[in-house]
Amino acid sequence: MSKEYILSDGSRISYEEYLGCSSEDDKPPVFCWPSSFILSKYIEMHPELIQNKCVLELGAGIGLPGLVSAVLGAHKVYFADKRENKMAQLLLERNIERNGLQSIGQWYPINWGDCYPFEMDHPIDKLDIVIGSDLFYEPKHLESLVMTIASLVRYHSGLGLYTVYQERSCKRSVGKL
Ligand SMILES: C[S@@+](CC[C@H](N)C(=O)[O-])C[C@H]1O[C@@H](n2cnc3c(N)ncnc32)[C@H](O)[C@@H]1O
Repeated sequence: MSKEYILSDGSRISYEEYLGCSSEDDKPPVFCWPSSFILSKYIEMHPELIQNKCVLELGAGIGLPGLVSAVLGAHKVYFADKRENKMAQLLLERNIERNGLQSIGQWYPINWGDCYPFEMDHPIDKLDIVIGSDLFYEPKHLESLVMTIASLVRYHSGLGLYTVYQERSCKRSVGKL
């Protein structure tokens, strides 16, 4: 399904989602979660965070905040999701292309728990900022996700991390991380 995100200057980002067909469909749905609109809006309000910067979007899904970063002047945007999530890869590559961002955007598989740079196909020379929306939703993934983030922070000095997440239980919070 094809949709549009309209930036405050009136320019448009067109993106495709996959909502899944039936309960027998084994492909996971890939769509914009509510947090991705909030992170996208935050980036729009603070473009200096990404302008001329090298950005990595973790758990990108269809990658709306990364697409917004690319349109607003990021030097390079790496869109990461699970290696096995072929639907995310397909949609990310299509979304990069349909917005003419092929020289900026690139699919970059990372599985949470991967240790940077040892488990990467091609380490990135210099990364400035990691973004990610709605990553902290599954308690059993928390440790591996934090491990990957910690390895990125250790390798790239001064790396910024901007994340938006939706609290799904009043008994859980990532506030103390
Ligand atoms: C709730 S969705 C959020 C997607 C997108 N960031 C958004 O806000 O619309 C979580 C994303 O994390 C990815 N993900 C889940 N487990 C993962 C893992 N172990 N390694 C890498 N990515 C994972 C999923 O494939 C999915 O795209």
